Amino acid sequence: MARACRLLSAPGAACYGALMAKILVVGSGAREHALAVALAGHDILTAPGNAGTLSVGRNADVAATDVPGLVALAERERVDLVVVGPELPLTLGLVDALEARGIAAFGPSKRAAELEGSKVFMKRFAKRHGIPTAAFEVFDDPAEAKAFIRREARPLVVKADGLCAGKGVVVATSVDEAVAAVDRMMVDRAFGDAGARVVIEDLLPGEEASFHVVTDGTRAVALVPAQDHKRLSDGDRGPNTGGMGAYAPAPVVTPEVARRVMDEIVAPTLAGMRAEGAPLRGALFAGLMIEDGTPRLLEFNVRFGDPETSVLVPMLDGDWHALLSGAARGDLSQVHVGTRNGACLAVVLAAAGYPASPRTGDVISGLPSALADGTFVFHAGTARSGDAVVTAGGRVLAVGARATDLAAARALAYEVVSQISFDGAQHRTDIGHRALG
Ligand code: AMP
Ligand code: GLY
Repeated sequence: MARACRLLSAPGAACYGALMAKILVVGSGAREHALAVALAGHDILTAPGNAGTLSVGRNADVAATDVPGLVALAERERVDLVVVGPELPLTLGLVDALEARGIAAFGPSKRAAELEGSKVFMKRFAKRHGIPTAAFEVFDDPAEAKAFIRREARPLVVKADGLCAGKGVVVATSVDEAVAAVDRMMVDRAFGDAGARVVIEDLLPGEEASFHVVTDGTRAVALVPAQDHKRLSDGDRGPNTGGMGAYAPAPVVTPEVARRVMDEIVAPTLAGMRAEGAPLRGALFAGLMIEDGTPRLLEFNVRFGDPETSVLVPMLDGDWHALLSGAARGDLSQVHVGTRNGACLAVVLAAAGYPASPRTGDVISGLPSALADGTFVFHAGTARSGDAVVTAGGRVLAVGARATDLAAARALAYEVVSQISFDGAQHRTDIGHRALG
């Protein structure tokens, strides 16, 4: 609040009453709990939320994909701002529907959300605007896709065009694997219509990073560069997941790399979207591959990352409400935020059976009633059951800390992790390994 208070009221004035906004946060993950905590002090309603968001405000039992239900909820509750967490409601046009009723919303229009919703759109957009990304081909005929793979016989990545909850990408280690991916996506339709078209692109070497900006369509406020850990097990082994932990800052994104990302990827993207009549407002999360100081675009998301948000929130020095409502209203010119000193690290605790078939209903014990300085427990798949908190989804909690440096943040984070338990809990013990060794 501090910064908004200074901007909008006399120094030292008590400002909560005057500035308290009613905010609807859409989603139910650690990202949404972290955002709710970032906005605490305002009147927070989360739909559908989890056991964690209940301690920040109220939950409303409306699914994150129920566009008419969410619009009706926002109208009924007379909210000042809707903050949309996940991608699906964005691609379904939630922000357009809210804005049509005069309700401010943080997130892109349905058209701008194509940057995430269609890999074909994203890749062709990048080509049109000279944005560095892997060379690619688009196929809507599986026979042609397979012929291309056999002809090229080099490392390739096969991507379903549409949203597949993070499962639509196969980094193929052989021709057979790439061909099998085409069959699964295009012939068996494992992801339904999302796999009707595929992108097949070159495998890029390097180290990955998650680069987020908040944008009003023209201006972009860069957040601290972060790194995710997508595989289930230590040493980056095991199946792909939604993300098992994150930390920031990511040393691979040097100030020079960050400058290049802003100049070569973010600026042309915002200008390109404006020129194409679909200005992008909200969060732009560029998934990058960085090789010898050169950033290339792997994918765009038009929302905050999860688990990245669990480290972005503690690292931001400034007022989240001013940032999100500035972007939603199309004017970030008065918003000034920075990055805090030190580093932040979050470890995901996942349910038994995650990611293939997570079990729910396990009682979570050891949740700290008071958190030590700098530590946090953001809830994801959790629910209240009587007096207990039980698992209710694949990723259950994001547990972490901000401290003077990454090693201290890791030590603190794992200390909190060691206090919490539930049957079958899984977590990685090496979050931050690329930076810490
Ligand atoms: P995406 O959903 O496009 O980010 O892909 C998911 C994951 O697949 C990324 O986080 C990378 O680990 C990997 N990946 C995607 N595209 C490529 C590529 N062209 N080269 C290497 N790895 C890739
Ligand atoms: N952590 C990756 C994502 O949110 O897509």
